[in-house]
Amino acid sequence: GTPLRTLAEAKGVYIGTALQANELSGTSGSIAGAQFDSVTPGNEMKWASVEPTRGTYNWGPADQIVSFAQQNDMRVRAHNLVWHSQLPNWLTSGSFTNTQLHDLMIKHVTDEVTHFKGKVAHWDVVNEPFNEDGTYRADLWYNQLGVSYIADAFTAAHAADPNAKLYVNDYNVEGQNAKSNGLYNLVKSLKQQGVPIDGVGFQAHFILGQVPSDFKANMQRFADLGVDVAVTELDVRMQTPSDAGKLQQQANDYTAVVNDCLGVSRCVGVTVWGFNDATSWVPSTFPGQGAATPYDENLNPKPAYTAIQTAL
Ligand code: XIL
Repeated sequence: GTPLRTLAEAKGVYIGTALQANELSGTSGSIAGAQFDSVTPGNEMKWASVEPTRGTYNWGPADQIVSFAQQNDMRVRAHNLVWHSQLPNWLTSGSFTNTQLHDLMIKHVTDEVTHFKGKVAHWDVVNEPFNEDGTYRADLWYNQLGVSYIADAFTAAHAADPNAKLYVNDYNVEGQNAKSNGLYNLVKSLKQQGVPIDGVGFQAHFILGQVPSDFKANMQRFADLGVDVAVTELDVRMQTPSDAGKLQQQANDYTAVVNDCLGVSRCVGVTVWGFNDATSWVPSTFPGQGAATPYDENLNPKPAYTAIQTAL
C-alpha cells in the first residue's frame, strides 16, 4: 500500500511518530522513515536528558534523532522545553529563589532552542500546564513564577528561533471540558497580549472507545483564536490481551482522530506516540493496558494502521 507519509502530504498534513534514539536502526528505523514524515523525540529533548548536570549539556541522543530526520526527509516536532516532569535533580532539589528560577528557565529555553535552531519545525514550549479542573498545575514553575512563566517561555523561544512554530501541549483537552476551557482561556489571553504562540497540541492519549465526539469542534474553537492545532501524542490503549473486536474498535478510534484533524483546516498533522506496541510507553505506565499503537510488538501493521491509511 501507499506509505502514510505520501498520503498525508497529498492532504497537506504531516503524519508523525515519537521515536527514541535506540529505535533509529534496523526494522523500526526503516518503517519510521518510510511511513512517517515527522518525528518527535520521546525523551531525548527533555530537560533531564539534555542537562543532567547543571551547565553540562548532553545533546548527543537528540542530535541523533534530528540527523535521522534529516536523512529521511522528516520534520522534527521538538518536545519539550518547560514541563513539570523529567526535570534534572539539580533543578528540583536546588531551592532556587524566584529570580534564579526564572533566569534558569530562560537560559534553558534559549540554549536548547538555539542548539536546534533551523532544524525543528515545531517546539512544544510549555507542556501540561493544567490540572483536570482547568486551574494551573501547581508545579515548580507556577508555584514560584506565577502564570507569567508561560508567556516568558514563549517569548524566549521566539527570540532564539523566530522560524520555529511554538506550541502549548496538554492531555485530556481533546473534548470541551473544564481543562480545555482553561487552555482555551490561556491561548486567548496569550494571543491578546501578543505573545508569540503559534499552535496548540492535543496529546490524545485515548482509552479504547473514548475519543470525544466533540474533538473536531473543540480543535476548531482553538483554531478560531488564530492558532494552528495538531494531534501530538496519539495512542489508544486497551486492556491486554487484545482481540479482534478490540483491534477493530481501535481502528475506528484512529479513523475518527484522523478525520477530526482533516476536518479542521488549521490542523497541521497527527503524531502517534510511538508507532509500535513493542516500545510504546503504555504498558509500563498503565499496568494491564497496552496494544495502543498502529503496529504490533513484531512491527506488523494492525487494523489501526489500515485505518489511518484509509482515512488519509
Ligand atoms: C513519556 C515517554 O514516552 C516515556 O518514555 C517516559 O518514561 C515518560 O514520558 N505526555 C508527554 C510525553 O508529554 O512527554 C510523555 O512521554 C507521555 C505523556
